[in-house]
Amino acid sequence: MVAPRVYEAMAKPVVGHLDPFFFEINQEIRTGLQQVFGTANPFTMAISATGSGGMEASITNFVEPGSKLLVFAGGFFADRMVEMGKRQEAEVVRVDKPWGQTVTDAEATEAILREKPHVVAFVHGETSTGVSTPGHAICKAAKEVDALTIADCVTSLGTMPINLDATGIDIAYSCTQKGMSCPPGLSPITCSPRALERLMARKSAQRTWYFDLKMLADYYEGSRRYHHTAPISMFYALREGIALIMEEGVEARFARHKTNAAALTAGFEAMGLEMLVPAADRMWALHTPKVPAGVNDLDVRKKLMDNHSIEIQGGFGQLAGQVFRIGLMGEGSQAANVDLLLGALREAI
Ligand SMILES: Cc1ncc(COP(=O)(O)O)c(C=O)c1O
Repeated sequence: MVAPRVYEAMAKPVVGHLDPFFFEINQEIRTGLQQVFGTANPFTMAISATGSGGMEASITNFVEPGSKLLVFAGGFFADRMVEMGKRQEAEVVRVDKPWGQTVTDAEATEAILREKPHVVAFVHGETSTGVSTPGHAICKAAKEVDALTIADCVTSLGTMPINLDATGIDIAYSCTQKGMSCPPGLSPITCSPRALERLMARKSAQRTWYFDLKMLADYYEGSRRYHHTAPISMFYALREGIALIMEEGVEARFARHKTNAAALTAGFEAMGLEMLVPAADRMWALHTPKVPAGVNDLDVRKKLMDNHSIEIQGGFGQLAGQVFRIGLMGEGSQAANVDLLLGALREAI
């Protein structure tokens, strides 16, 4: 759901993409994103793209052709990272877990020390399964072999702590349409000084022009010379989405998501629905109760839409027909929505 104040912000007059006001807004966005990511990285910005663009920027800038990329896989979006790595002609090694589980600390450490990759990628919040992977052991082992880490925070940004610096994540990207309560259109991204050093030392030119982070940094923070025509209204939106988070308080916002996630899960369990993901590995923004035996998930979803205008998603890939995927994120994470959904779901089932 998009916050009403965000819609209002988007209706404001559009300035030029080189207007000093635009760069002022970017500065506010940077400061806000640093707090939500939990980082002091000066290189923190929003690029003109959806979440997949942030993924593409991360992979194409930091994974050189011929280098080794290790991906911890266990869901649809990790597979997208694998595919992007292959398109960069990297040597991609994947460590798979069944969808709904995450890698253990021991497994992550063993795989990284064995493979000695240049870059390790993982999905912090896997929206296809509801699994959260905070990444402490991954980042610790990656540092031991001097590898950079990339974390997909598309669904976790603004919905649960990422603690980027404390965890040791080098590169993270997200989107605007989930925890930030904005429409889709920008991709927040942050890079550690260590990652930037690696980028500056890179020998081959990035195989991307639009997502060349050196050029984007020059536009947003350096010379402020034209690179592309930034979608100004989306920057207004993100600025407002961030202002809402600051007014609520970053910790209070995470706590709201945690409380509503717990209430929703308790409601599922009271209804006799089993959760796919073990309690310790669950995200706070996306929930995956299993579809009960004898129930068709499509029928249930259709009833929710027809009778209540509530849209939830089903599982896909390995989880097709087996789980519901229910988002409770940003503006949508409200106690009233928990009650509404639980009542409607019980009726539909
Ligand atoms: C974890 C994750 N990564 C990447 C993406 C891709 O983002 P977008 O659809 O905004 O390009 C999504 C989209 O839902 C996602 O959930």
